[in-house]
Amino acid sequence: MKKLLMLTVGFCFVLSGSAFAFHDAGVAHCNGCHTMHNSKDGALVDPDSPNGNAWLLKDATPSDVCLSCHSQSGTRGVFADDYLVPNVLHGGGDFSFLLEDLLQNAHGHTQPGDRAGHNINAPSKLVGPDATLTTAPGAIGAAFPSASLGCSSCHDPHGNQNFRLLYGIGGIQDGAFTFTAAAPIAEKSSSSAEANNNHTAYISGMSAWCGNCHGDFHSNPGGKLIHVSDQAMGGTISTAYSLYNGSDDVTGGVPATSYLAAVPFEDASNTPTFTGAPTATSKVMCLTCHRAHASSGPSSGRWDFNETFLEEDGGDGSYPIPNPYGVNQRSLCNKCHVKDAGDGPL
Ligand code: HEC
Ligand code: HEC
Ligand code: HEC
Ligand code: HEC
Ligand code: HEC
Ligand code: HEC
Repeated sequence: MKKLLMLTVGFCFVLSGSAFAFHDAGVAHCNGCHTMHNSKDGALVDPDSPNGNAWLLKDATPSDVCLSCHSQSGTRGVFADDYLVPNVLHGGGDFSFLLEDLLQNAHGHTQPGDRAGHNINAPSKLVGPDATLTTAPGAIGAAFPSASLGCSSCHDPHGNQNFRLLYGIGGIQDGAFTFTAAAPIAEKSSSSAEANNNHTAYISGMSAWCGNCHGDFHSNPGGKLIHVSDQAMGGTISTAYSLYNGSDDVTGGVPATSYLAAVPFEDASNTPTFTGAPTATSKVMCLTCHRAHASSGPSSGRWDFNETFLEEDGGDGSYPIPNPYGVNQRSLCNKCHVKDAGDGPL
């Protein structure tokens, strides 16, 4: 796999620590994103759009505006401009994988980069809507159109007090669509690099929230035969998780250090520094297997679903999703299902 294009590094704020807070859990100063006259010091604010932009935005699309600050490596980066240090270890993952010309994929399968996750319409970053998925798969009722998908489809640009400024019940994107499920309850980590002892703490409601657009994949409506989400793990699976220590040691783990940020679950007692085991009532949810933004695996996987051995991910020079266990590690589905018991090495 080759990189499609090297990106030109745009103007970015340095977003380190609390040195520069912007949203402050609500609406930031308007001219961070809007320009009233498309004019500053007598020059155009957006030279690409002499006649101005919709919603009086400072750049062509809502996502372009967000990425004018959120595209760099580091705590708030969600689109690595240098492409070399992707933010895959943040909670959300990194949108720059959408630029892969062929998403690295095991066993000879390749997929275009737009299958890396949620596509956003941001001409400044050379990304646009998904070419295959024209609407949100699994929609019940009105399907969310891929052409409208962007940062402000999920995050309220005018801020609120929800986890990560995510939208709750009500109209989104200037009334273009309506959410019926509340924002998820979760606690953000304090660190830019995700670790097993510093990670997003998922408490409740994530699967229902994703169901605002993917409702048919949530809680098995109509009793369909699909993988459970928003469902308690039960005693057998939570015990398996707590003892699993990789393909080479499937039952030798220590429950107190068994938490894997690559395979998270929801629990009312989760905290960002929690390292322990799930209980029978901990829940499997959408972000157990997916990143919210994008990843270098297909379908925004937290690991590459098509690899037999995780060690082989990135073998063609693409970005390898870090392998949390040893060289013989197979799919992380095994963290809960232990189908790799007694298996041979790589
Ligand atoms: C973080 C960026 C950001 C900030 C800060 C911001 N806006 Fe917006 N605003 C947007 C975006 C993006 C849209 C386009 C609609 C959408 O995508 O939700 C928008 C749309 C609007 C609209 C028209 C549509 C609507 O939702 O009503 C108004 C009016 C508006 N903004 C006013 C303001 C005012 C007033 C402030 C300051 C108090 C402000 N905005 C601060 C990003 C921002
Ligand atoms: C002027 C620069 C700037 C722009 C434009 C901007 N942001 Fe931010 N954003 C920041 C900074 C700085 C932080 C970290 C401090 C804070 O939360 O205020 C941040 C933090 C965030 C966070 C994390 C909040 C949290 O609870 O930790 C989200 C989500 C976010 N921004 C989304 C957006 C979206 C969506 C847009 C576009 C509608 C946008 N930002 C536009 C500067 C910006
Ligand atoms: C505002 C609507 C919306 C919300 C909320 C939303 N999605 Fe999506 N999702 C879409 C659309 C539209 C597509 C198809 C277009 C695309 O893939 O870019 C999509 C595609 C996907 C894909 C397939 C990506 C690929 O190319 O294979 C996955 C996986 C996914 N969503 C997971 C999630 C998860 C997990 C959540 C919750 C954290 C979520 N979605 C929340 C609208 C949404
Ligand atoms: C499909 C919904 C969706 C879209 C589209 C989306 N986000 Fe997010 N974003 C989320 C969720 C959910 C989280 C929390 C991820 C976690 O902790 O697991 C998040 C987390 C974040 C964070 C915190 C850092 C991180 O990586 O977790 C920032 C900053 C952010 N988003 C900005 C953006 C920007 C800027 C865009 C557009 C380029 C965007 N988001 C598009 C759903 C979305
Ligand atoms: C147990 C892991 C797991 C969970 C939990 C999970 N997914 Fe997936 N998802 C996958 C895998 C693996 C794929 C790749 C295709 C497949 O195997 O079905 C996928 C594919 C997708 C796709 C792409 C479908 C397409 O038509 O290309 C979407 C959208 C999606 N998931 C959304 C969700 C949402 C929303 C949730 C929560 C309600 C969720 N997933 C929960 C593992 C999971
Ligand atoms: C966080 C734990 C967890 C992870 C990770 C996980 N699952 Fe599951 N899986 C469950 C639970 C819970 C059930 C429901 C089991 C039950 O009710 O007995 C389930 C059920 C299943 C079933 C149906 C079993 C049956 O008896 O009908 C299959 C197949 C399955 N999972 C495959 C996968 C695959 C493939 C992956 C990886 C893409 C995966 N799971 C990842 C927890 C998990």
